[in-house]
Order: sequence, then structure tokens, then C-alpha cells
Amino acid sequence: MSTTEPKKERSAVDVARDAFCRTFAERPEWSCRAPGRVNLIGGHVDYNDGVVLPVAVALEIALAFRARTDRLVRIYSADFDETTEFDIDDLTPGSLPGWMAYPAGVAWAMSGAGLPLRGLDAAVAGNIPIAAGLSSSAALEVAFAAAFRQVSDLDLPELELAKLGQAAENQFVGVRCGIMDQVTAACAEAEHALLLDCRSLHYRHVPLPPALHIVTLDSGLERELRSSEYNKRRRECEEVVSRLAAVDEDIHALRDVSPEQLGSLLRHLPPPLDRRARHVVGEIERVRLAASALEHAETERFGELMFASHRSLRDDYEVSSEELDGLVELARRAPGIVGARLTGAGFGGCTVNVVSVALVEDFLSYVSEGYEKLFGRKPDACVTGAASGVSVDRAG
Ligand code: GLA
Repeated sequence: MSTTEPKKERSAVDVARDAFCRTFAERPEWSCRAPGRVNLIGGHVDYNDGVVLPVAVALEIALAFRARTDRLVRIYSADFDETTEFDIDDLTPGSLPGWMAYPAGVAWAMSGAGLPLRGLDAAVAGNIPIAAGLSSSAALEVAFAAAFRQVSDLDLPELELAKLGQAAENQFVGVRCGIMDQVTAACAEAEHALLLDCRSLHYRHVPLPPALHIVTLDSGLERELRSSEYNKRRRECEEVVSRLAAVDEDIHALRDVSPEQLGSLLRHLPPPLDRRARHVVGEIERVRLAASALEHAETERFGELMFASHRSLRDDYEVSSEELDGLVELARRAPGIVGARLTGAGFGGCTVNVVSVALVEDFLSYVSEGYEKLFGRKPDACVTGAASGVSVDRAG
């Protein structure tokens, strides 16, 4: 099994700093880092104004940077060995490809929000696997938002960085993601999960028991369906809400439907809308129960809720795949398992597994061998605790 772990000897920050010195022939003034994330429970509820429980993982995007006196931005990516250059006053959505669209989108969103931005020179490096469902894009957005805040001397709380990152992704990059990934990259606390209310954006840090590790397993499955099916699910939820609002004007989002109310409302929803609503309403309730289980050290209960979340995503929301179901089923029988489910958008990508620290190795060999027998390849694994959100330091 190949295991992705944070590079111990050379952190992403070190790689970014060296790349900055080589590219700009000078030392950077600042460095910053923002983590990837994995969602323990609360799948596809952030854009329904629901509650989610993600953690920041110990994999990150790092920047080394310095301020400029004009409005130019020059960025070298160590991972892609590519450079981009743009003027903050000359940005239009869709004008930059690939990774470059993210920093450009952040500059565009910040400038569009009326913030007086200065330009910067930066080198970027990271160890979050790209397109594996660990949200390297939100980490990139939040890291650049923090860098622009630093060089422009802005007084902006972390939550604002998250909102600007989401605006960049929704309006400049063109992906209709919710707010969960950016808030996690910006506001997470080490050794804690983040209980986030995606309507009010209030959050609370919930301690994770030190005896548990988080393991992500990548199915290795192609995800071409991901953005089209993701957007389709969002449209289906909007359709559900407009039908239910005609029955009850207090329903503005699926968040407003309680599990008790749902039974009598389902008859207003033709399939598959009834199944979509059942998932979202049930999942929001499961997140509340799971956070409480975590706070009361009811580990087994927490695990059951994760498995129930997976079943609901598989049967009612229909965003799973044979490979993801295979990984969760193997995990359920593996040594040390507490709970497992698909995480992120689904249709491929990763499962998240909560595993007893003492049995992580046994867990990994069991699942890895089983997956290889079924699907002919081993899943990539990342073993992690919970990391902290974005931080900026003097480059030193
Ligand atoms: C993706 C999106 C998130 C969230 C999840 C599903 O990761 O970026 O905003 O909607 O899917 O829970």
C-alpha cells in the first residue's frame, strides 16, 4: 500500500521557500500554510444550510511570498513547475486554466469586495493529493486569501477568508461548492473536529479522542461524473425546496425540515426527490447526534452513525460507487474500525475511516489486501490526526 504522509524532513513550507529563492533570487518575507480536509460526517448538507463535522488533515498547501508595490501577481508552482503572472485589475472569470484560476479567483473576489489589494510574488508547493477529495483547492484559495491579507495589511477574520475562497471557486473557477471546505481550511483547530453550522457559519471545536486516527482511503476511481452529478444533486435539492415551500412557506432550505415533519411532506416529492430529501434531512440529524456522541465519548455510536451516513449516501442520495461501497464494507470488518463512509462529493475519490490508533497497521493491511482482491489495485492511504487551519509566519 502506498501511504501519503506529511513530508517530515522537507515540509511543504520548506519546498515553497526554496522554490521562492530560486525563482525570485531573493528570500521571501512571509510563508503561510493551509490544510486539506476530510469530512467525518455530514455529506452533501453544506449547500442545504445543514451542519457538518469536518477535520483539517495534516497535509497542506504552502506559500512563500513577498509584497509588491504594484498590482501585479507572479506565482511559481513547484508542483507543476509552471509560472503565472496577472494584473489584479485585469481578471475575468474563465481566463486562467488549471491551478492558476484559484489564486487569480481569490484576487478577483477580494478586489471585487472592495478590498485594497497589493500585488505579490509567491512560490507555492503542496502535499495534498490533487483531485482525491481532500480539498486541495480550498487550501489553495485560503492560503492565497491569507497571503493577500498579509501583504495588503487587511484586518480580515479567518471566516472572511473562507467566504472569499468560496466566492472565487463559485464565481471565478465555476464550481458550485458549498462553504465547508474553505471554513475548515481557515478555522480548524489541531486535535479537534469542526462542528460547523453552514447557515449561520457559527462553529465549535469538538475534541477528537487521542486514541483514534483518521485514515483516508482513495478508491483510485476516475471522477468525471463528479462535477456534473454534483451540480445535478444541487439542482434536485433546489427543486425539493421550491416544491416544499409551496406547502409550507417557512421552508427556505432542507435545513428547515425536521425529521418528524418529513414523513408528511414526502408525498409532495416524486422520486428521486423524495430520496434526496430523506438523505439530507436524516444526515443533518446524524451530524448532531454524532457530535454529541463524540463529546460524550460514545465511540461506538459515533461509528454507527458514520456507517448509516454511508448507506444513506449510497441508497438515497446515490453518490457512491462499487469501489467506495467495497472499501466501506471491508473497513466494517477490519480490525480497529470505529466507522467509515464515503467523503467529499462521492462518485469516486475517498472514504474516511476512524480507526483505533493501536490497530491502524492491521486495519490498513486488511483493507488493502481485500481491495486488491476485489478491484485489482491497492488504495492509497493517508493516516492523519486533526491539523490546525491557515497560519502565516515571517519567513525567517
Ligand atoms: C464537495 C464540496 C463541498 C461539499 C461536499 C459534499 O467536497 O466541495 O462543499 O458539498 O462535496 O459534502
